[in-house]
Amino acid sequence: MNPSPVFAQASWIASPIAGGKRTSAPAPYLRKLFRLDQPVRSAQLVVTALGLYECEINGRRVGDEIFAPGWTDYNKRVQYQTYDVTGLLRQGENVLGAILGDGWYCGYVAWHGRQNYGERPRLLARLEVIFQDGSTTVIATDSSWKTALGPILESDMLMGESYDARLDLGAWSQPGNDESRWQPVLVAPPDRPVELVPRLGPPVRRIGEIKPLKESRKATWNSKFRIFDLGQNFTGRIRISIRAPRGATLRIRYAEVLNPDGSLYTENLREARCTDYYTCRGEGTEAWEPLFTFHGFRYVDVQGLQPDDFLEVTGVVLHSDMAPTGTFRCSHEGLNQLQHNIVWGQKSNFLEVPTDCPQRDERLGWTGDAQVFIRTAAFNMDVREFFHKWMQDMRDCQGAEGGIPCVVPTIWVWGAEDLPGKDGGPAWADAEIICPWTIYLCYGDRKILADHYESMQRFMEFMAKNRCRGHIRAHPEAFEWQGFGDWLALDGGGKTEGITPVDLIGTAFYAHDADLMAKTADILGRPGDAKKYRILHGEIVDAFRRRFVTPEGLVVSGTQTSYVLALHFGLIEESTRATAVRELVRDIEKRNYHLATGFVGTPYLLDVLENAGRLDVAYKLLEQETFPSWLFPVRNGATTIWERWDGWTPEKGFQDKGMNSFNHYAYGAVGAWMYRTVAGLEPDPNEPGYAHIIFRPRPGGSITWAEASLQTALGLAAIRWDLDGDTLQVQLTVPPGAHATFQPPPGYAAKESTQLKGSHRLVLKKT
Ligand code: BGC
Repeated sequence: MNPSPVFAQASWIASPIAGGKRTSAPAPYLRKLFRLDQPVRSAQLVVTALGLYECEINGRRVGDEIFAPGWTDYNKRVQYQTYDVTGLLRQGENVLGAILGDGWYCGYVAWHGRQNYGERPRLLARLEVIFQDGSTTVIATDSSWKTALGPILESDMLMGESYDARLDLGAWSQPGNDESRWQPVLVAPPDRPVELVPRLGPPVRRIGEIKPLKESRKATWNSKFRIFDLGQNFTGRIRISIRAPRGATLRIRYAEVLNPDGSLYTENLREARCTDYYTCRGEGTEAWEPLFTFHGFRYVDVQGLQPDDFLEVTGVVLHSDMAPTGTFRCSHEGLNQLQHNIVWGQKSNFLEVPTDCPQRDERLGWTGDAQVFIRTAAFNMDVREFFHKWMQDMRDCQGAEGGIPCVVPTIWVWGAEDLPGKDGGPAWADAEIICPWTIYLCYGDRKILADHYESMQRFMEFMAKNRCRGHIRAHPEAFEWQGFGDWLALDGGGKTEGITPVDLIGTAFYAHDADLMAKTADILGRPGDAKKYRILHGEIVDAFRRRFVTPEGLVVSGTQTSYVLALHFGLIEESTRATAVRELVRDIEKRNYHLATGFVGTPYLLDVLENAGRLDVAYKLLEQETFPSWLFPVRNGATTIWERWDGWTPEKGFQDKGMNSFNHYAYGAVGAWMYRTVAGLEPDPNEPGYAHIIFRPRPGGSITWAEASLQTALGLAAIRWDLDGDTLQVQLTVPPGAHATFQPPPGYAAKESTQLKGSHRLVLKKT
């Protein structure tokens, strides 16, 4: 079978050995020995796998991507990579080899066991060589390739990797290696045809290294627990340097936090074993890093060594390779640590797709989490291509009727049995509209709207037809499964979904979607559609008011999130807004300036307060240090964002182990507010991508200075302010080609300045 012209002459090949639903098989090595009779002018390798691959030519690794070909909806689409390998070939004998890993294709994914897409990993490769005289030859995967099992006894993303160095295959990807124990490969086309496409988003790479803290290197070595503390919760793995006798086996476990007795807290990993094994060859110093697994961790527990053995551990940070673009700092050290934690939450969870968490048996592209965090993400790093790719994944798993599932890529559909199509539910499925819009806003990227528009329209139709009754989305009388609610809100008395009615959340987001659709249609030059969505928006707003808002401006359920959504999405009449704001503030005051919001309400809470003229309350929440607050985990040593406001408390210890990640970025969505409002750096939706920057610092709380910078497509944008008594000094940097407006904070004797270019220094006095 010829899967694609790019792979002409190549067939999918695999090892004859496969694992089962709960048993994994060793990673197969595949190789092809071939002769090139003339000097090489150029050579290109096109390669992909169902599963993961790492290629070698003549003993040298091809490229530097990790987990290639990446994660897509393998039922539809598989990415391939193209490498210039001219420098790796030579006249005479050569070997092209590959190691295959299970990865997402046939390894464990979430709590669904193995083999979710197919039973065994497969390789597809085509090497085209152009000789000096212009003639060409092709080496492609086919039945003439050989395969063997090697030292990787198992390698799974959730379970870990087991490596027996005694089974090392030596120079397996070089000519001259003894092939007598190698078997013929299986030619194994996948069960269903898949589309092969060039890589879309940025590849995962080794982004950095972390050395364990000094104390953990020496002090704990002979103690009960041999635990290395890397000082930072992150996603990746370790590289070890080891000297120990032949056959000594290390058991290497990983955890984000420690139990009070100093042992690893691993209960929150659920079914993910997160354990690597390494068996020593016993010849001098051995170096090893697993190939096809990753863990989310800060602590590493190594067992199986004697006191005389030598071991060095280095953390290897892995994530999708996105350029850092933003910085935020201010006079408050706790908030600086919060910003640090947000960035590390992003690093840890932007791995091929935006995941909820990197450690337990989950690590899925939860649409709600991504939607909540994308605005913050677009400050910290250049996430444009990353989301282009994920939007493609979203189109690939959109239901036939237009629904969007709760995880993308999806391997199962939530509530599929009782739903007329896929539906991730309110605030989850809406990633479909919010994510492309945000990428447009932050990067001026019209293409993502154009590419995704048809899919967005289908989603809107799906909601109208299948998920609403009279514009009320997720109406409880019509739909058994409503959605996830205000996930992990604290107002639910222990119930994870909080008590904000899901139909209120659903209808609020539906209105927001209609509004964004109207704006999108305007941008794409579709006035008819824009009109249609504006009318729909008006109707949804009316339906929302009828059902959820009293004539006086009280919002049903009275939760913080119900007020936040109603106010933020403009669902309350102007005349009664003040009442709604008062009610929201009253609830916050009643809780002694603490929030009670979950995933859904939290991202907009501070915006709503600020826009309602209650910046004072917003800052009190931001600077709050007692539970629940953003700074509570910071004060308790967090280095990433916790999934739950009370992941750990001094009174209760750890939260329910069934759902207690210490590396979930959702609550880190407050990062955008720190950039936009504390520092004051905002794009203008009418000139997106920071072509027109709005500088609008809003000093408050105890903060005396703040600064933010952003590498935009046009260059560096930056703001810094310093408060000294009644004087506010502001420094602005406008990138070349952009222009800016400065909006002074209320209470200062200054006028708005427009058409700013270059650098500016402003001095403002309090009135
Ligand atoms: C995930 C979340 C996700 C949620 C859906 C959890 O298990 O970790 O982050 O959004 O399920 O409610």
